[in-house]
Amino acid sequence: MVTIKVAINGFGTIGKRVADAIDAQKDMEIVGVTKTGPSFGCGLAVKKGFPLYCTFDDNEKISSFANSDYDCKGGLTDLLSIADVVIDCAPGKMGADNLQKYKSAGIKYMFQGGEKHSLTGLSYTSSANHSENFNAQGTRVVSCNTTGLSRTLVPLFDYCGSLKVECTMIRRAADPGDSDKGPINAIQPVLKVPSHHGPDVMTVKPEIEINSLAVAVPTTLMHVHSIIADLPEGHGLTTEKIIQMWKDTPRVIVMNGKDDRIPTTAEVMEMARDIGRKWGDLHEIFVWEDGVKLVNNRLYYFQAIHQESDVIPENVDCVRALMGTEKDWKLSVAKTDLAISEYYGI
Ligand SMILES: NC(=O)c1ccc[n+]([C@@H]2O[C@H](COP(=O)([O-])OP(=O)(O)OC[C@H]3O[C@@H](n4cnc5c(N)ncnc54)[C@H](OP(=O)(O)O)[C@@H]3O)[C@@H](O)[C@H]2O)c1
Repeated sequence: MVTIKVAINGFGTIGKRVADAIDAQKDMEIVGVTKTGPSFGCGLAVKKGFPLYCTFDDNEKISSFANSDYDCKGGLTDLLSIADVVIDCAPGKMGADNLQKYKSAGIKYMFQGGEKHSLTGLSYTSSANHSENFNAQGTRVVSCNTTGLSRTLVPLFDYCGSLKVECTMIRRAADPGDSDKGPINAIQPVLKVPSHHGPDVMTVKPEIEINSLAVAVPTTLMHVHSIIADLPEGHGLTTEKIIQMWKDTPRVIVMNGKDDRIPTTAEVMEMARDIGRKWGDLHEIFVWEDGVKLVNNRLYYFQAIHQESDVIPENVDCVRALMGTEKDWKLSVAKTDLAISEYYGI
């Protein structure tokens, strides 16, 4: 079996998680991760045995590691020269600069949802458009919210053949590790209407008609989506059939808020910690069974998104798509998820 050599550019919230998930796969290896300079995050890379590189090529920045405990192997260009694909996990809006570096290195590249679709002209989620990304030179794994919407809407669309959706994103104000974002005592409507989240689904599944509004609220745990979807006449579905469809969908968890005593995102995250994922992550989208209701052609439901981790397994599948090593998205998802659960012993 050929082992795909993966570089991670940006070893922060998303980068460190993607690195672990790639490290778990039998058909991939981490050849290096980057940090901008010596900081506590370098310790994690060292502990994991991931070779550490500087985000930049200039000697002054590379030599800043010399006075630290961390062995820096070189600059970004050195790392790109030994990799097959780079996963860009830099903060959003840095993509344009980094793209030029990846193109110069002649390497395949993946960006995250903080970048716009126009940067790559191609976007990715496992269930929506794996085959469209097959053997592509570069793409963008969509944001945590767009990934979450795709997970539950794509199977519904595939069953019904058409779908009109209005949704409200109730967004966490900041990740738990961020100290510079808010609000901390307010509810902040996103005044760009409609918000970009819903329409972003159309970059991976253009057939779904969808719009969204968003508000940021003072919580760090998860996002919640409040969704209304209009199904076509003669859809043949019932509330129970839709719930079963999602129970059969990879990376979706359906639980009952009342009976399972899991009424809020606090209990969802406690459950995620209980099942033993590192960092208390939840790769799956969480749907409250008792919050799903079909009234004639109109479907109402709520779902919760663990913003720091739902995109992590999608990044792994996306590597297989770009490298042209697994055409069937469901086989890739099964391979990815099994390897991750074996890696963590859960
Ligand atoms: N956090 C989420 O909830 C979430 C969810 C889905 C998608 N995303 C997207 O994922 C991407 C990364 O977000 P994040 O939350 O992981 O950000 P983050 O925690 O701030 O981490 C970003 C990392 O990129 C590094 N970096 C800084 N400048 C860089 C550059 N020019 N090139 C490469 N790396 C650079 C930083 O390095 P140092 O630490 O060494 O300074 C940091 O480790 C963004 O596009 C974001 O929108 C985030």
